[in-house]
Amino acid sequence: MNFSRYKIYVQRTCELEAPFDICEESSNDWTHFTHLHRKAIVGYRLLNKKGLREVFLYKARVLYPLPFYDHYVIFRNYEPQQNGYKNVYLNVRTGQLNYLSGYVIQKGKSSLLMADYLFNMSWYWRFFPGFFLWVFRRRMRSVMDEDNQWIYERMKQKEPYSNKACAPVVPEEYDLFKDLFKDDIFKHADIRMDDYSKETFDGKGRFKIKETAPLP
Ligand SMILES: [Fe+2]
Repeated sequence: MNFSRYKIYVQRTCELEAPFDICEESSNDWTHFTHLHRKAIVGYRLLNKKGLREVFLYKARVLYPLPFYDHYVIFRNYEPQQNGYKNVYLNVRTGQLNYLSGYVIQKGKSSLLMADYLFNMSWYWRFFPGFFLWVFRRRMRSVMDEDNQWIYERMKQKEPYSNKACAPVVPEEYDLFKDLFKDDIFKHADIRMDDYSKETFDGKGRFKIKETAPLP
């Protein structure tokens, strides 16, 4: 056991009186995050996608309207057998990992929206588990209220649903690197400066700087 960390497992279950297919779509569609859940999810940028695996850069607001944010790289895998996905959250500031396994289960005319969370927290959180759950619930409540409103609108809708207007097109394969790194990228700099050093071995186990480029 690592006493400097405090691992919190939260299992969240929401039994929602709504059809399975609509709930499953709402749970798995990340393209709605930044416009529907903009209070909680400030940024959710696709970095890479291949088959069932996706990588995102995620900027999360800890608790609206407070100006505290966490940044994560998320490795997400769609898991068809659980009608959901598994996420690993790498906190880019602390290097710590959180985990999520989300799944949707049909229960008669209702759906069980379930999620197992494992939060890797600092040691002092062991004194405030109730406060942690309060923050978690408060944040999730606003996200769930927004989802529920969307699900309700879907349930009222007769014709096939289309969210093309606001959802980005997500190709099967995607690589932000290919998208960004152009061969002429360095030509777009406003200024070019050179840094140069000539370093020779001094024979006493060290390198010595002989020459450097002058400052512009
Ligand atoms: Fe949502």
